[in-house]
Amino acid sequence: MFSKTLVAAAVALASLSQVSAAFTYNRLNKSEAAVLVVDIQSGLFQLVHDIEPRVYRNNILGYSALAKYFELPTVLTTSAETGPNGPFPKEILADHPDAPYIKRNGEVNAWDNKEFRDAVAALGKKQLIVAGITTDVCVTFLSLSLREAGYDVFVVADASGTFDPPTADLSNQRMLDAGVQILSLFSTGCELMRDWRDAPGGVTVAQQFFAKWFPSYDNLITSWLGASNQTETAA
Ligand SMILES: *[C@@H]1O[C@H](CO)[C@@H](O)[C@H](O)[C@H]1NC(C)=O
Ligand SMILES: *[C@@H]1O[C@H](CO)[C@@H](O)[C@H](O)[C@H]1NC(C)=O
Repeated sequence: MFSKTLVAAAVALASLSQVSAAFTYNRLNKSEAAVLVVDIQSGLFQLVHDIEPRVYRNNILGYSALAKYFELPTVLTTSAETGPNGPFPKEILADHPDAPYIKRNGEVNAWDNKEFRDAVAALGKKQLIVAGITTDVCVTFLSLSLREAGYDVFVVADASGTFDPPTADLSNQRMLDAGVQILSLFSTGCELMRDWRDAPGGVTVAQQFFAKWFPSYDNLITSWLGASNQTETAA
């Protein structure tokens, strides 16, 4: 009886200590964040099979557009782009004509390239948003190096791609273990925005931005507009 009570007390204490464990929600802040576009190259795109190609194409262009919409400083980098890895999609270059563009000639991990490290340091931002191809190599290697260098790292999982879902899961776990935060493109946008009333361009522009890159969100807005119009007509 006594030992049962002791066990119950120990269990209660253990769960109490779990509840009271300190946690700080380190959120994206658009004044402190920058975007790194890593090796999203047309050749490497062909390796991506954990996300369906049409969806993945939408996500990488949406990722590039997100940096532009929130006016986040951006660094572009490619790996051996005159070889089989291929060039960037032209839409990404068009979104960021003035961004530093580091063409690496050999380094697999972008952080091994001094020009890239200098470009990231010059941004003066603590929070770095990362997506690229492949998740397990270019994204993971760079993110682990960025954590080691003291940055807060936010990887956009659905704008990063690799061979298959297990490879993505294992690399995401490897990054989580290093304190990287793993987000979706939608949650990255919403966390940056925080409040619809503070969205760049106002609520309508924000709705249009989300509707453009998330077809389901477009359906939500379209059905709402249709329903509101019918209500107005009936009234
Ligand atoms: C975002 O960062 C800026 C600059 O560091 C700071 O002034 C502001 O309070 C932060 N915003 C929020 C909502 O935390
Ligand atoms: C609803 O009305 C607005 C403005 O009157 C119009 O621009 C929009 O196209 C309409 N939407 C639908 C789905 O009927």
